[in-house]
Amino acid sequence: MSSAKSPSTSPSIQICRIMRPDDANIVGNVHGGTILKMIEEAGCIIGTRHCNTQSGDRCVAALARVERTDFLHPMFIGEVAHVSAEISYTSKHSVEVQVNVLSENILTGAKKVTNKAALWYVPFSIKNMDKIIDVPPIEYSSPEVEEEGKKRYESQKMERFETKERNGELINPVSIPDRHMKEPYTVGFSQSSLIHLVGPSDCTLLGFVHGGCVITVSGRMTFTSNKSMEIEVFVDADPLVEAEQGKFRAVTAFFTYISLDKENRPLPVPTLKLEGEDEQKRFEEGKVRYLQNKAKRLAEKERQQ
Ligand SMILES: CC(C)(COP(=O)(O)OP(=O)(O)OC[C@H]1O[C@@H](n2cnc3c(N)ncnc32)[C@H](O)[C@@H]1OP(=O)(O)O)[C@@H](O)C(=O)NCCC(=O)NCCS
Repeated sequence: MSSAKSPSTSPSIQICRIMRPDDANIVGNVHGGTILKMIEEAGCIIGTRHCNTQSGDRCVAALARVERTDFLHPMFIGEVAHVSAEISYTSKHSVEVQVNVLSENILTGAKKVTNKAALWYVPFSIKNMDKIIDVPPIEYSSPEVEEEGKKRYESQKMERFETKERNGELINPVSIPDRHMKEPYTVGFSQSSLIHLVGPSDCTLLGFVHGGCVITVSGRMTFTSNKSMEIEVFVDADPLVEAEQGKFRAVTAFFTYISLDKENRPLPVPTLKLEGEDEQKRFEEGKVRYLQNKAKRLAEKERQQ
């Protein structure tokens, strides 16, 4: 692991490690979650380090948001994942970290960019977890770079505001249906929940998360295209110890999955069978996200050519 920081450049860090069998699925493809975990660790290190470069309360940078992240190429057991992270914008209380991931085949030397991600961290005081610390500003290479960062900051703030409004409607945890009673390819047929007691091994640095809350992770399919599936995931927390706090929704996310054949080529996906107006509405919203993301990917491709 190496790191670099100077007053004129943004703080940066690099971590790398070889992919092992327990990082991958049964056919040797590394799980997206393994890579996401490395990305988050790099972001947490750099964000925490940066926010502790000033005097005053010691703090830890907590992950607040992950922007859309594309997994561009598969990674396999035996390859080395190189994760480089750089702080690209700071607001008064938040830090944007841009991360690039490269896969390296150490037998042939071939390298591929597999991910580009942007994450937002917020520093909390270690003495008082309810207190958010002011973030030391970074220096930008030009006013334009700062202006671009500010635009990203404002646009994610706006999007969060909209998501909060939507969550008002969705606050009931996803119910667990009796799957045997459900027709294949309906939302209810594949909908699942996982109940988990958060323990120390789930916790981040410096005991920031103390454990002791029961979380329910619920997933339901919202949209299918010809070759992709969108899954909406909620994490609802029900604190065991501080029960007076009541249940709360801790995380919401959308994941897109592709089914691959033995040669890692995308396979067709059965169309989702919709039941009722709510499912229809979520499907339409998923379609908008699908079309917007596809257009963005196409535009990025054209820009690179
Ligand atoms: C996902 C992947 C197969 C897409 O490859 P591709 O050459 O772009 O394939 P296609 O253009 O045929 O796209 C296949 C489907 O995936 C969807 N898709 C592709 N990239 C996507 C992205 N970044 N986000 C959402 N959907 C995506 C496409 O929309 C298409 O569905 P559609 O035909 O219904 O519209 C390829 O990028 C890949 O192998 N990624 C790595 C996956 C992986 O290993 N994940 C774990 C990471 S460690």
